[in-house]
Amino acid sequence: MKPDYIANGVYRVAAKVGSRDLFEGIWPIPDGVMLNSYVVKGTEKRALIDLVKDWDGALDTVFAQLDSLGLGAGCLDYIIINHMEPDHTAAMGQIIARYPEAEILASEKAIPLIKNFYKIEKNVRAVKDGEVVDLGGKTLTFFMTPNIHWPETMMTYVKEDGVLFSCDGFGSYGRYESCFDDELGANERAHLDSETERYYANIVSSFSTFVQRGISKLATLEIKVIAPSHGVVWRTNPGQIIDHYSRLASYMQGPREKEVAIVWSSMYGNTEALLQSIVDGIESEGLPVHILQVPQTHASFVLEKVWRSEGLVIGMPTYEYKMFPPMYHILDILERSHVQGRKTLRFGSFGWSGGAQKQFDVFVDAMKLDYKGSIEYPGSPTPEDKKKAYDLAKAMAREIKEL
Ligand code: FEO
Repeated sequence: MKPDYIANGVYRVAAKVGSRDLFEGIWPIPDGVMLNSYVVKGTEKRALIDLVKDWDGALDTVFAQLDSLGLGAGCLDYIIINHMEPDHTAAMGQIIARYPEAEILASEKAIPLIKNFYKIEKNVRAVKDGEVVDLGGKTLTFFMTPNIHWPETMMTYVKEDGVLFSCDGFGSYGRYESCFDDELGANERAHLDSETERYYANIVSSFSTFVQRGISKLATLEIKVIAPSHGVVWRTNPGQIIDHYSRLASYMQGPREKEVAIVWSSMYGNTEALLQSIVDGIESEGLPVHILQVPQTHASFVLEKVWRSEGLVIGMPTYEYKMFPPMYHILDILERSHVQGRKTLRFGSFGWSGGAQKQFDVFVDAMKLDYKGSIEYPGSPTPEDKKKAYDLAKAMAREIKEL
């Protein structure tokens, strides 16, 4: 790859990471992910903003691009760490070995993490909220944006060009040939929007309150370009990704999309036997339905659809007196991700004894679900069970439609 020119003296040095590993060791990235670092060259000094993990050749790719910008060994003055998660810092040791004189600038909360993760203490300095570092004709201003995505996270702004380096914020999964939002074709743009939602639901949703605070805090800046460390650079429509993140963050409190996510498991088909009645009840009110079978569908994709939907239906049988185990995993992920307040139904079969409902009720309370009831039955569902399921689903869908 070649560096991408963003503005005079401002470049992206990026790596496209393939699909072999899980992101954070948990989330599938079938279409990969971008690791974006950035260079800002002033007349006096030069800074590298955010690093990479040596993942799928990323470090060599970034070093080659730095060389092509005339930033070979020893030619950096500052290394800016907006965020300490190792997808952006795991190669810190190799990078410092190449640029041993560069001063590392990070938030105060990041300093102990640098020591603990990488045993690095020399040439490290904490910067404060609003502090400015002059590179000569270019300035870097640091803004603390805690919990987008870790407590230590900050963003870096170049006032002269209106460029905001936002690290995880405004990022996305996916690898893209194009660097910029305005270079994407319609299919690529649809893919980016979808992967932005999945990325947000997977790694950012828990911190939605902080996203809203961060967006408010940055509202006074003249932002011409948003340069995140995952995804594309927004130079023509930075407002679009800010609006998209605002909408995704708003799903925590609601209102959400007038859609219903049905997350279901079945062992021998007896829970599945009620599924169509639920679907028919919801569709009779004209609402879109996302049907997600577990464990066949990874939690990453389940969470994406549940996060955006006002309605939630959980279908699962009792298994050894408790919930079907893969659904316990899904509900644990949903609770951790602050999925709250959805209008919710549950259905499921049991054999000689129930037990799933009792365990599920704990999640209903913990997730503050607006619980509309359950259709639970021994063995296979009767026509009366199916009628009840249809009626409850329809009533819930109508309530959502009228919000
Ligand atoms: Fe891309 Fe929170 O790291």
